[in-house]
Amino acid sequence: MAGITAAITAVQGYVPDDLLTNADLEKIVDTTDEWIRSRTGIEQRHILKGEGLGTSDMAVEAVKKLLDKRGIAPEEIDLLICATVTPDMVFPATANIICDKLGAKNAFGFDIGAACSGFLYALTTGSKFIESGTHKKVVVVGGDKMSSIIDYEDRTTCVIFGDGAGAVLLEPDEDGYGVCDTILRSDGAGRQYLHMKAGGSAKPASHETVDAKEHYVFQDGQPVFKAAVVNMAGVSAEIMERNNLEADDIAWLVPHQANLRIIDATARRMGLSEEKVMVNIQRYGNTTAGTIPLCLSDWEPQLKKGDNIILSAFGGGFTWGAVWLRWAYDGKDVVK
Ligand code: UT7
Repeated sequence: MAGITAAITAVQGYVPDDLLTNADLEKIVDTTDEWIRSRTGIEQRHILKGEGLGTSDMAVEAVKKLLDKRGIAPEEIDLLICATVTPDMVFPATANIICDKLGAKNAFGFDIGAACSGFLYALTTGSKFIESGTHKKVVVVGGDKMSSIIDYEDRTTCVIFGDGAGAVLLEPDEDGYGVCDTILRSDGAGRQYLHMKAGGSAKPASHETVDAKEHYVFQDGQPVFKAAVVNMAGVSAEIMERNNLEADDIAWLVPHQANLRIIDATARRMGLSEEKVMVNIQRYGNTTAGTIPLCLSDWEPQLKKGDNIILSAFGGGFTWGAVWLRWAYDGKDVVK
């Protein structure tokens, strides 16, 4: 393969210590462990507690360890992109706050808001800076403190989401490892089914919006579920077809962790058996932009140089996409 590709040369996840289990939720809303497990696959989620802590604090923990693994100083980072829908503040960008907390003084940074597909959008964007030859060390973070925008009186959403973050380091590669192909899509008409009603410029925060609970996630689950199955499975099959990849060629599917039934449908469409599918939704729930890097981090010891990996996501926007990666290193050699 000619030219420079953007290789992931390190990955690291972070979840906060506090747990919210299905048993805990049974005490808060009218739900059952059985319903949550059978409809979503989730058993527990991690929740970030502590005054003043936000998405940046989880991201900083992930990026610090990421840099330690590669023996890289924060000053060496050229660019940091943060995918999130739960920024610390409306502005400045959470990426700027992360860089400041890390001491990444030579990096510029910005946020990407593409909900559950955010990590794929940010990874693709970061890759372009590497491929163009202008940037040598790009950190891509995906993370969300979903507990900050969840109504814990709404059983249809509070059982699904958790907090967490993950980060990857992108560096140039001349042997064809890294991001090989990307398909990204969006359809804003889907916003009616998944959004936050207030707090933006169209409906700024007011006493009325707070009283009406309009600063929480609104989701009409069924239409989102149907669109997720069709589009996540479709785009995953499409990226295989257009690159002449057969199921046997794929080492791993790394799906966004929204619902085990959506993941299963995607794997079936790709012809993959379940042992090739990364699933950790039972432990973390849906961490929005955090799910894919958290999977890569959990499975890092099993990843081998040359593995063909398909990342795939669907989420609010609607946004969706798939990325084909050729993994660049043997994960078992990484000293934790
Ligand atoms: O990551 C971002 C993108 N988001 C997604 O991909 C999420 C996509 N949607 C989903 O994963 C599913 O639609 C949900 C998990 C949100 C809901 O599962 P569902 O199988 O679509 O359930 P439903 O909304 O059709 O509700 C079925 C029943 C309803 O009761 P009735 O009307 O049949 O009496 C709900 O009120 O389940 C009820 N229900 C619950 N029952 C117990 C809804 N939430 C709960 C709950 N516990 N937590």
